[in-house]
Amino acid sequence: SAAEKGGYDYFMLKEIAEQPKAVADTLLGRIDGSGSLTLDEVRIPPGVLREIDKVVIVACGTAFHAGMIAKYAIEHWTRLPCEVELASEFRYRDPILDAQTLVIAISQSGETMDTLMALRHAREQGSKVLAICNTNGSTIPRESDAVLYTHAGPEVAVASTKAFLTQLVACYLVALYLGQVRGTKWGDEIRAVIRDLSSIAGAVEQVLGTMEPVRELARSLASKKTVLFLGRHVGYPVALEGALKLKELAYMHAEGFAAGELKHGPIALIEEDLPVVVVVPSPRGRSVLHDKIVSNIQEIRARGARTIVIAEEGDEAVVPYADHLVRIPVTPTLLQPMVATVPLQVFACELATARGNEVDQPRNLAKSVTVE
Ligand code: AGP
Repeated sequence: SAAEKGGYDYFMLKEIAEQPKAVADTLLGRIDGSGSLTLDEVRIPPGVLREIDKVVIVACGTAFHAGMIAKYAIEHWTRLPCEVELASEFRYRDPILDAQTLVIAISQSGETMDTLMALRHAREQGSKVLAICNTNGSTIPRESDAVLYTHAGPEVAVASTKAFLTQLVACYLVALYLGQVRGTKWGDEIRAVIRDLSSIAGAVEQVLGTMEPVRELARSLASKKTVLFLGRHVGYPVALEGALKLKELAYMHAEGFAAGELKHGPIALIEEDLPVVVVVPSPRGRSVLHDKIVSNIQEIRARGARTIVIAEEGDEAVVPYADHLVRIPVTPTLLQPMVATVPLQVFACELATARGNEVDQPRNLAKSVTVE
């Protein structure tokens, strides 16, 4: 009913708008007065976490994209090797797992069969499994050694939005917690990231307030057949997520690529007026990647692409090559996906509406896939 949708036309719109709160709620109670993490709910004893020598993340779809981003954070903050794998592929290749492996299963619903089978397989090999889940008491957390709940609230639209942002928060918390427990990251550094995380809900809110031009752009592209998405580093999974949203909602051909791969093949796809969305890393810190992606934008534009550039405020280098420029607030590199994903959600939702598609219930899809 309209009341359930809180005045929005679709649950998806409501859930996109709820993201700042969902993010803040997922942080709530998990940081103590001194700015360190208190994840008592993670019932894997610190002694066990100190013995871990590898992290493996399993998930499907959007949750898998959260896992891809988590890999950057986990390896950076813990110096533990981290693999991410589609849950549906995982157990069929006889993965190397033992008691020193921490497996993280990410699932909004907690009922995804592929993810459940992957975690069962991991536990049979003696690995500890930590679930990151949005649904209290669902099967995946029940069958795991521990669970860190995302507090996104019920997500009704088939296309995942607020669950994704809270999965990212939970992944950052786990990465920092592992760093804290294992002593690879010291108090001050953890506190600095926690401070940045605490302000990220406000940054998401800020993005939400500037989406009208993105909606307008989406409507103007309603008759297109293909949209490509490029990103690099943590922007690469963001590009994959943008493409997945567009497939699910707009039923358009959409593909995400690592920008560095362009010249190894995908650049052949570029033709006159093809919309290409580019997620640009911050010019600060990792400026090498920034400069490389700016030359990618130049290259594709020279071949006729219509460039839709998502870039940090103050990044002037992209301006001459952006046919459409979407600004996002300045954030630390690892947290940028939290703000960069939001315009892509809005873009896909508006394109779906413009194409007359059912936004909350896309054809052929189910909210949770309970068969393998
Ligand atoms: C996201 O928009 C999709 N509907 C889908 O990829 C989803 O993320 C995937 O099926 C995993 O679901 P889960 O998080 O409930 O396990």
